[in-house]
Amino acid sequence: MPRYQDEFRRSIESPEAFWAEQADRLPWFTPPRTILRHDDQGHARWYEDGELNLCHAALDHHVEQGRGEQAAIHWDSPVTDQKRTLSYRQLRDRVACFAGALRELGVGYGDRVVIYMPMVPEALIAMMACARLGAVHSVVFGGFAPHELAVRIEDAEPRVVVTASCGIEIDRIVPYKPIVDEALASSMHKPVACVLLQRENHVAELDEGDHDWEALEASAEPAACVPVKATDPLYILYTSGTTGRPKGVVRDTGGYGVALHYSMETVYDMAPGEVFFSASDVGWVVGHSYIVYAPLLRGCTTVVYEGKPVRTPDAGAFWRLIAEYRVKSFFTAPTAFRAIKKEDPEGEWLSRYDLSCLESLFLAGERLDPPTFHWLQDRLDVPVIDHWWQTETGWPVAANLQGLEPMPIKAGSATVPVPGFDVRVLDREGRRAMAQEQGAVVIKEPMPPGCLAGIWRDPERFHSAYMAAFPGVYLTGDGGYVDEEGYLFIMGRTDDVINVAGHRLSTGEMEEVVGAHPAVAECAVIGIQDALKGQVPVGLVILKDGFTGDEALLEAELIERVRQWIGPIACLRQVLVVDRLPKTRSGKILRKLLRNIADGQAYGIPSTIDDPASLESVHGTMRRHRVGASQQARLE
Ligand code: COA
Ligand code: AMP
Repeated sequence: MPRYQDEFRRSIESPEAFWAEQADRLPWFTPPRTILRHDDQGHARWYEDGELNLCHAALDHHVEQGRGEQAAIHWDSPVTDQKRTLSYRQLRDRVACFAGALRELGVGYGDRVVIYMPMVPEALIAMMACARLGAVHSVVFGGFAPHELAVRIEDAEPRVVVTASCGIEIDRIVPYKPIVDEALASSMHKPVACVLLQRENHVAELDEGDHDWEALEASAEPAACVPVKATDPLYILYTSGTTGRPKGVVRDTGGYGVALHYSMETVYDMAPGEVFFSASDVGWVVGHSYIVYAPLLRGCTTVVYEGKPVRTPDAGAFWRLIAEYRVKSFFTAPTAFRAIKKEDPEGEWLSRYDLSCLESLFLAGERLDPPTFHWLQDRLDVPVIDHWWQTETGWPVAANLQGLEPMPIKAGSATVPVPGFDVRVLDREGRRAMAQEQGAVVIKEPMPPGCLAGIWRDPERFHSAYMAAFPGVYLTGDGGYVDEEGYLFIMGRTDDVINVAGHRLSTGEMEEVVGAHPAVAECAVIGIQDALKGQVPVGLVILKDGFTGDEALLEAELIERVRQWIGPIACLRQVLVVDRLPKTRSGKILRKLLRNIADGQAYGIPSTIDDPASLESVHGTMRRHRVGASQQARLE
């Protein structure tokens, strides 16, 4: 690995020189002279005295450089039977007008805007319009319920909310306006305006304080790009933590731009003019980084897909998109391929399309399970690459770097740390683990550019969640190990976060919802392995003495409660009434033990089972109740 080793060493030994070089690739208004400074807490602040605007770097700059007529976005929406291509010039002009419209509503530098939108070009336009004004966007995934939206609105305190009349789930219309209205009614913070994009499939009635997107954009004066400091926040993206309250991950501007640009070249091997397709949603970090900002900063074309991987019997959606738009590099979550494999086990749909344009397939969001890896590798002529990162890091921490030095692939491994990330595995005492020894995966400070700048208005949580466990390192929350050749294997979360269909969810939050039911004395929600979604949550509840109702009805009620409170993506499908839950002597529920049972002891860092009898008791208790056959197999 000579090229990789050289670049990695330089990035760790001389981070300032390394990242100064990379910064030169972006069009700054004021190039930074201070590359790295450590703040009072010792955390990295990148490019502090630099000034730029990421909307300018992603759009205007390319138009100025002669890329104006190139496609910036291919939007493909089988759910509405529509397709649209926007050139860099068209996109720049629409973003400038929408930024002008937001400005007329009083949005300016530093103001927040919450965006609750389906996968339409206007979602990207709204995000970049905020960036253009120096405003901070906070995109909320459409699968979240009003309560979740309200929590985010209260925390971010947006001046404006931008939404659409509906989202479309295959053939089910999801009206957004009632969700937004309910969220706003329960939120203590009230934005000054709500902008709504009307869609043909469902037209919403506008109320006072609501503005029609089209009318606003048509009459707005285009806005110019506002220079912002590299350390100014570009966005807040809420993600699940171990408690019910989501964490507002704050992303800076300059460091993020530099890191994304570097990753497009080094990790994904993408050159300007080439087509990148990330099948995710703008509501997740993958969408922020690799549907919106990274491809456009690099002068590539991004594919924006509004649809599912499978629409029975058609399991060829991704293959069609790759062939039709001549995609060079494709990125999605393994769960999407498990859905495709289920429908089309022999890969017949794949053979119907000309995939000669495709050079690499990237997977992340959850562990790439070996059966899915082999299914893909056996059928595709390109490297199938598992790479690992998280909302907090903003871009890949470990990958097989296609633009630097492609390496042999090992099933189950995310390959090697990306230059800039000094990844280590620590044992319980904080010592560096030996090769093959599992432990907590951490990143030694300074974190490279692009990683979280903090938690919105909660520095204490930033410290306690990530920095307090071991001095001088960032705790990723994942467990794993490194093998003798330096390959990193991520084995799963070591906390109460689970990954359902590539969506990150907090079991703690579900526990709060279930536990608030008057009939529930105690509860625990754990992730159980699932053949399609990777993990699914299962609730274990102890009822209050004297409960005389129908247990089956209660279980259904608890499931519905979680769906109403958190949203359909919470996917809690099973609640089991149990006699007791394993506890420590001081009465705390042994969550790690429950997790390990659910995982069949296969994943996670070694648990501290100090009472083997409790394991027996959970087994026994759960067996007496209705546990699905596949889950029972895992439990055995
Ligand atoms: N708006 C409203 N509802 C939504 C939604 C949205 N944006 N996204 C999902 N939902 C709903 C679904 O319709 C489903 O509702 P249901 O319980 O009534 O059927 C529920 O939330 C669960 O969604 P999901 O877990 O995504 O299951 P699914 O069966 O709809 O799709 C996959 C499963 C695997 C095909 C899909 O999750 C997928 O493609 N995932 C991979 C890509 C990805 O999004 N990755 C994220 C990070 S890379
Ligand atoms: P999110 O913040 O939603 O992107 O989820 C991040 C989490 O998803 C990580 O902390 C991991 O637990 C998991 N994850 C993401 N990519 C991978 C991967 N390639 N292998 C294993 N786990 C992954």
